[in-house]
Amino acid sequence: MDGPSGSGKSSASRGVARALGLRYLDTGAMYRAVTWWMLRHDADLTDPAAIAARAADPVLAIGTDPDAPTVHVDGTDVAAPIREAKVTAAVSAVSAVPEIRARLVAEQRAVIGSGDIVVEGRDIGTVVAPAAQVKIYLTASAEARALRRTAELSGTTVEAQRAAMATRDALDSTRKADPLAKAGDAVELDTTALTLDEVIAEVLRLVKERT
Ligand code: DC
Repeated sequence: MDGPSGSGKSSASRGVARALGLRYLDTGAMYRAVTWWMLRHDADLTDPAAIAARAADPVLAIGTDPDAPTVHVDGTDVAAPIREAKVTAAVSAVSAVPEIRARLVAEQRAVIGSGDIVVEGRDIGTVVAPAAQVKIYLTASAEARALRRTAELSGTTVEAQRAAMATRDALDSTRKADPLAKAGDAVELDTTALTLDEVIAEVLRLVKERT
């Protein structure tokens, strides 16, 4: 399941994994965890070569239970700090570095193994798992996405979220390495007017139809 931030990917993919008894992988959390580590270690995030030089250093551990997904870096639980604004502001720069992507895509494929998993990200249908049985590309209007993000976070406004998301989407969609993109064989689902339960029901219908 791919799509921009605020499209409802995380809630929908967790819900689908729960309903089908599958594992769940949040690949954005992996990019965020590496970004958290780079900030912790004072890497120069304006210099892609400096990020690439340390791409192999953070030790990641990611749990795939949809009821309790976990993420650790160098043994530290980073589930909360990777959602902080400073990580969100820096993650596009780190995830644009090809050495970071090569490392994380290999780890994602290792976690996926032979399947039975719902994976969310930006390049899952195009790069990480091009042979996936079901590919969904979630979208929503800029207004709906900003409203959802504002409801999740404290101390922000819809306008600030809309601007921050536009910047991050532009960076994620225009980077050279594996940009955010809809796979040719993905089903696009616009969630603007749908409730979470409706999105999950529609994805479950597609899964049933295709498997
Ligand atoms: O889904 P998210 O907002 O937690 O993702 C954080 C960032 O990670 C996003 O701005 C781009 C990057 N990302 C990526 O490049 N490829 C993925 N498969 C998942 C996330």
